[in-house]
Amino acid sequence: MKTIEKIGLAALHRLDPETAHGLAIKALQSGLVPVVGRVTSDRLATTIAGLRLDNPVGLAAGFDKNAQVLQPLARAGFGFVEVGAITPRPQPGNPKPRLFRLTEDHAAINRFGFNNDGMEVAAKRLATRPDNMILGLNLGANKDSTDRAEDFAKVLRHCGAHLDFATVNVSSPNTEKLRDLQGKEALAALLAGVMQARDALPKPIPVFLKIAPDLDRQGLEDVAEVALSSGVSGVIATNTTLDRDGLQSTHKAEAGGLSGTPLFEKSTRTLAQLSQLTNGALPIIGVGGVSSAEQAYEKIRAGASAVQLYTALIYHGLSLGADIATGLDRLLARDGFANVAQAVGTGRNKWL
Ligand code: FNR
Repeated sequence: MKTIEKIGLAALHRLDPETAHGLAIKALQSGLVPVVGRVTSDRLATTIAGLRLDNPVGLAAGFDKNAQVLQPLARAGFGFVEVGAITPRPQPGNPKPRLFRLTEDHAAINRFGFNNDGMEVAAKRLATRPDNMILGLNLGANKDSTDRAEDFAKVLRHCGAHLDFATVNVSSPNTEKLRDLQGKEALAALLAGVMQARDALPKPIPVFLKIAPDLDRQGLEDVAEVALSSGVSGVIATNTTLDRDGLQSTHKAEAGGLSGTPLFEKSTRTLAQLSQLTNGALPIIGVGGVSSAEQAYEKIRAGASAVQLYTALIYHGLSLGADIATGLDRLLARDGFANVAQAVGTGRNKWL
């Protein structure tokens, strides 16, 4: 982390977390945050679902919910960037406060509830995106929608022309009953609608399915089966958890989804199990508690073709993504892997 980033983070951490995040977005918009540019090498470059990534370290959904900082994010060293979630209509989300730092645990709890500007505004911003990035959109459903499944397809139809990939997010814990859409029949029907919308795009893009870490074995088996039969291009594992095991911080009892370090093990086990269940037939993007190159490498060895992160940026700054990619390059070289793809799943058994 650069000194200027350290000073900036220290100042932000004196503020309420949502205000701090808003300021971080403003700082990025005004060009105040130093960005590193591309991070890539022969070892780091990788292809997932047809997307050619400079490196396998991505920015997870939720950081740039409204696609407001695409230009700086294109130059922040991430291999790919996911913005959103975006719903068809704008909605305010849950009452504040709804984001909590759990500093002692290197974690966060959020219960935003898909606060966002809606697909009309998002599409206008996405239309001006830089070309030199791999950009995806996290699709969500309106809280008061009468057909939530259709909401995902609607956002994809409206924004899809500007995207490199889209993610069906049925795993946020902050919209009541959203996670019920992970059930076998509901999920199959929802994905059928989304894939139809995808096929009708001028340029069909890969669609990923993002799952919760709180599924039981049967739930995970069902998700694997539907993912394989539905035509999705990959699975993102995982979203935040409802678990509160082993937390120290003051805010540990807040309602919402927990992310960051305490999520690492649970999300990595989910990804390893899913990798086994799908037998490597679907690429998996590993998310949850990544804050170092070692942890990114661990997820890749557990079966992830790429990783994403968000919460660790709150504690280490935006440059962490580039630092992790650079560190990952060294770890792959140390262990004799010529590229990321060779390392995928080589340590899966440890997590089963
Ligand atoms: C998120 N996450 C999230 N995920 C998603 O699919 N759609 C969303 O809109 C959001 N919003 C969101 C807001 C905030 C404040 C946080 C902390 C997280 C979940 C995120 O993408 C990721 O899956 C989890 O946070 C786990 O990764 P980390 O944060 O432990 O690296």
